[in-house]
Amino acid sequence: MSETLTDNRAALYAPVSHLMHRDDWERLYADDIEAILRLKKERDAVILAHNYQTPEIFHCVADIRGDSLALARAAQTLDQSVIVMAGVHFMAETAKLLNPEKTVLIPDTRAGCSLAEGITAENVRALKAAHPGIPVVTYVNSTASVKAESDICCTSGNAKRLVEGLGVSKIIMIPDEFLARNIEAETGIEMITWPAHCEVHERFTPQEIRQYRRIHKGVTVIAHPECPPDVVAEADFSGSTAQMQDYIAEKQPGKVLLVTECSMSDNLSVFFPATSFVRPCNLCPHMKRITLAGIRHSLETMETSVSIPAHLQNRARQAVERMLAA
Ligand code: 13P
Ligand code: SF4
Repeated sequence: MSETLTDNRAALYAPVSHLMHRDDWERLYADDIEAILRLKKERDAVILAHNYQTPEIFHCVADIRGDSLALARAAQTLDQSVIVMAGVHFMAETAKLLNPEKTVLIPDTRAGCSLAEGITAENVRALKAAHPGIPVVTYVNSTASVKAESDICCTSGNAKRLVEGLGVSKIIMIPDEFLARNIEAETGIEMITWPAHCEVHERFTPQEIRQYRRIHKGVTVIAHPECPPDVVAEADFSGSTAQMQDYIAEKQPGKVLLVTECSMSDNLSVFFPATSFVRPCNLCPHMKRITLAGIRHSLETMETSVSIPAHLQNRARQAVERMLAA
């Protein structure tokens, strides 16, 4: 290996050095990382990575990292002609809605989401018929066909501000029942909900959080609002994955329990070496479909390119754009 290549590899490895051995990183990831960095230039591509991506993706090849809101915002401002979404399918769809002229690649089309799969456009039409005149606020964790039936989208990062801004006393908030109930508790606005849940966050229990508090005295508990309300009630703070990061940056707690997907603690531990992370681990099987090898293959073959049926595009885009403008 040439000296420059070795130096370059050392720099690429540095952010994840406390998470994995150098030999393993070299054996498992280094070739794919170098190939991806080269392919990004050749293809004029940018990689967007959600906070739940594994550290070798998140810290070694991603250009833009963040929560669903940050990735949607970033997707509005990109110069590159190709976007690779290291995240799940609805995130790639959102990026495509905002960039109809660009190629948006999802490295594994099986990277779904239990929330997005938990409701159909027909379900939304039935809800609207049963509750005429009530605005429909739809979590971005939804398909383009469901977004197309909605007045406005939201993420966990802007849901409270956004529903309060509507100035109404009742809202149809779909598809995440727990997010809707958590926002209802915070705002007092009555929510008509839908019984879909995040398969990762629904598994946490209040008993488990209390048990962690007994074992780890003084731990700061931060729960994602996709958790059941009785779990959020046990937390010191609840917010989107980016808001979790901001909270730690501001409060600098010594020990933190992130009640969310496994990779979140790994990724934030790189930014906050002085904070120790208790690691409850509920893995998102959909996020984990995305691998370095898959990203490399996607850039080599330019597959799979996301497309959205023409009749849905304008209405779905409007719901996302209203959210970003609000
Ligand atoms: P945020 O990163 O927007 O908090 O969302 C979490 C999530 O589950 C995305 O699928
Ligand atoms: Fe969907 Fe939950 Fe996975 Fe996020 S963590 S992609 S909400 S299943």
